[in-house]
Amino acid sequence: MSTISSKEFIEGIPKAELHLHIEGTFEPELMFEIAKRNHKQIKYSSVEELKKAYSFNNLQEFLDIYYAGANVLIKEQDFYDLTWAYLTKVHEQNVIHVEIFFDPQTHTDRGVSFDTVIKGIHNALEKGKEELGISFRLIMSFLRHLDEASAFKTLEQALPYKNWISAVGLDSSEVGNPPSKFERVFAKAREDGFITVAHAGEEGPSAYIWEALDLLKVTRIDHGNRCLDDDKLVEKLASLQIPLTLCPLSNLELKVVTDLKDHPIVKMMDKNLLVTVNSDDPAYFGGYMNENYLGIAQALHLSKQQITELAKNGFKASWLTDQEKSSIIAKIDTYFQNN
Ligand code: ADE
Ligand code: ZN
Repeated sequence: MSTISSKEFIEGIPKAELHLHIEGTFEPELMFEIAKRNHKQIKYSSVEELKKAYSFNNLQEFLDIYYAGANVLIKEQDFYDLTWAYLTKVHEQNVIHVEIFFDPQTHTDRGVSFDTVIKGIHNALEKGKEELGISFRLIMSFLRHLDEASAFKTLEQALPYKNWISAVGLDSSEVGNPPSKFERVFAKAREDGFITVAHAGEEGPSAYIWEALDLLKVTRIDHGNRCLDDDKLVEKLASLQIPLTLCPLSNLELKVVTDLKDHPIVKMMDKNLLVTVNSDDPAYFGGYMNENYLGIAQALHLSKQQITELAKNGFKASWLTDQEKSSIIAKIDTYFQNN
């Protein structure tokens, strides 16, 4: 019987990341480097100054800085470098499967072509599979603060790259932009063969989670914290085992919770919800996958068995094949028994 620490246990266990915005992995050092080569100005004079601005009272305060940061991404190489930096980072953390978001409208609205964005990201993901053994899926997310017409236009732009995109999602400013605003776009996306997911119940009410399920027919909810306000909804999510992609450090930094000790993840596990641990926007929220696991493990005194359950949930909730899932879950069980 081995006696490795919880930290070592977390570091070594194979993990899947299912809720990650590639634009949210833009580390200040790389941002300054890319800004310089593209002759773009950043509002802050140094990496240190920029990092000081990373203090948020809510989702919108974060989004304003996040979209400003993305403005320096212009060329295919920029999107490639951004994605490659993320993959090498999570490879060190034993992340072996990723299902990541990109926000095309953040770039196409600035005159960067859809083609430039997706080629850079996709080519880095392919290299990550070959050289680092990280399998992947790509999720195209619509910005919900923009209108339906813009989302339809984006869906149209995505069609030539359908083979590279598994799903469509919905992110950005939640309150006041309910899932119902995009019911028709999501119906068309499903007709086109895309899986659907949506951010819901991060800051918005549990009613938005119902809308995501009933109107957008999502198979996974991103965040979903507010489901706990509604017993009927919890019952539905648990009975159908609809995954929730939780993001503990994001919740802390955006004041969805005031302390990680108050994070609902254990309460949710006790209610038989299929919950997963993810990093959302790690360059902005102080940690990648291992730091998210470690944060909740320490704050909520998670056992190795609970950590194992969460790691297995990441694969169960993924879009890997059943055979791939069984194989990795068996490996995780062996890891638990040996550690
Ligand atoms: N875009 C990037 N991160 C997000 C989050 N946590 N919620 C909504 N939109 C986002
Ligand atoms: Zn998110």
